[in-house]
Amino acid sequence: MVTIDRELCIGCGACVKDCPGHAIEIKEEKAEAVRPCIQCGHCVAICPVRAVAIPEYDMEDVEEYEPDTFRISPENYLHAVKFRRSIRNFKEKPLEKEKLDRILSAGRYTATAKNAQACTFVVVQERLEEFKKLFWEELPEILENLKEHAPAYVSPFRYFYHLWKRNPKDDTFFFNSPCFLMIAAENPLDGGLAAANMENQAVAEGAGVLYSGYLAGALSASPRLREWLGTGEKRIVCCMLAGYPAVSYRRTAPRRQADVIWK
Ligand SMILES: Cc1cc2nc3c(=O)[nH]c(=O)nc-3n(C[C@H](O)[C@H](O)[C@H](O)COP(=O)(O)O)c2cc1C
Repeated sequence: MVTIDRELCIGCGACVKDCPGHAIEIKEEKAEAVRPCIQCGHCVAICPVRAVAIPEYDMEDVEEYEPDTFRISPENYLHAVKFRRSIRNFKEKPLEKEKLDRILSAGRYTATAKNAQACTFVVVQERLEEFKKLFWEELPEILENLKEHAPAYVSPFRYFYHLWKRNPKDDTFFFNSPCFLMIAAENPLDGGLAAANMENQAVAEGAGVLYSGYLAGALSASPRLREWLGTGEKRIVCCMLAGYPAVSYRRTAPRRQADVIWK
């Protein structure tokens, strides 16, 4: 349940009106939580006098809205979306811990269905070499599994294996990136939305990512690798390689017209 400080509450009803679960009512001119809710935090965010708290959360995390400092123009936002590129050529330099923390925050603050907040984020940077070694060791076993469960992956994976065996720098799974990020989630859309925000944050940090469907496919076929990653039964929703781009793009990449139905 949310808690509302009766001393601070001015009874304006803003939280009552904005609560999606109708969990707050005005009683004796003050707001009061009357039933459990999904703890979306709208009541905290809308209260003009900071009277609302949610004990489960760290309320020190809550920031005041500062429109003049942080406003992004529509043009700037669309520019960022258009100029984001998949990165397949990374510098060796690892991502700094404070940048990784902000990238993870972008994932953590993303919307989730029913406010479940149930994504698990895995960051493999310090132990990436160990993980990659295990990955390549496991690949023959992965190929065997995929023959039965996802045969379309077998031929490209065999080819990647052949390239890597010939020259381990020719790594079409990890692209020599310094960091591997994985999101596991019950709800794939929750993980996908978090991934998109994390990518945008990475770009804002001067870094970039590659979503890797191939890595997600390989990990899904390897209990040993999933155990190493420690995500239990949760479904692997997104694998990303992250780092500083060793490539720069001069213009946007063209796209098809959007398939839009206007009514
Ligand atoms: C879900 C998803 C999975 C992807 N998997 C791979 C992959 O396994 N290997 C790869 O090289 N690119 C992968 N990509 C990158 C796409 O090929 C890329 O987004 C697309 O070609 C457009 O290029 P852009 O991201 O630079 O705009 C993936 C992208 C998405 C969204």
